[in-house]
Amino acid sequence: MKFFIDTANLEQIREAQDLGILDGVTTNPSLMAKEGIKGDENIINHYKTICEIVDGDVSAEVISTDFEGMIKEGEALAALHPQITIKVPVIKEGIKAIKYFSDKGLKTNCTLVFSAGQALLAAKAGATYVSPFIGRLDDISTDGVALIKQIVDMYNYYGYDTQVLAASIRHTLHIIQCAEAGADVVTAPLSAILGLLKHPLTDIGLEKFLADYNKLNG
Ligand code: E4P
Repeated sequence: MKFFIDTANLEQIREAQDLGILDGVTTNPSLMAKEGIKGDENIINHYKTICEIVDGDVSAEVISTDFEGMIKEGEALAALHPQITIKVPVIKEGIKAIKYFSDKGLKTNCTLVFSAGQALLAAKAGATYVSPFIGRLDDISTDGVALIKQIVDMYNYYGYDTQVLAASIRHTLHIIQCAEAGADVVTAPLSAILGLLKHPLTDIGLEKFLADYNKLNG
């Protein structure tokens, strides 16, 4: 399973990259706004900086909701760096745009996916990634992880190449559950990724090893 970090915060992206386990980055307009990145030039420079920090795919989202606008924006984003993946919402114009980008060999991430039907259309259009938002489904008492499993099974059955990118991860357990469900990628906040390391027995064990060492050598 690939690990992406879901943020536009450069410090956190660098920390995850330094860990040596990072496969890519996802951003969205809300995450960019959270970091105070505004204005086309600053946004473009921010994407370029992220691409210089990490080795893998970096999702950059289009703002347009019409086909022509998405194509213009998406092509400009893709031209910024070979690691850029054009992030497109799963609306009618978005599916058309994903098909267009896919025919041109450009990478896409179909976002705001909340149902198996949306995921099916994204795969038919040739999306590189499909992003089901599991946390937002959990928020409305719907099982987000179950959707991941459903999409993984459906894609496997038909042999679609589209990778299931579990998004809207809220906590560490979500990462484990997505791994169990067969997600190809999870995109998570740094805190949820680092949470995977936490275990009290590790802390107790390490403390004891160091204490025993220091008894004789300290
Ligand atoms: C996915 O690519 C999105 O950026 C993200 O996972 C949305 O998560 P949220 O529901 O925490 O905003």
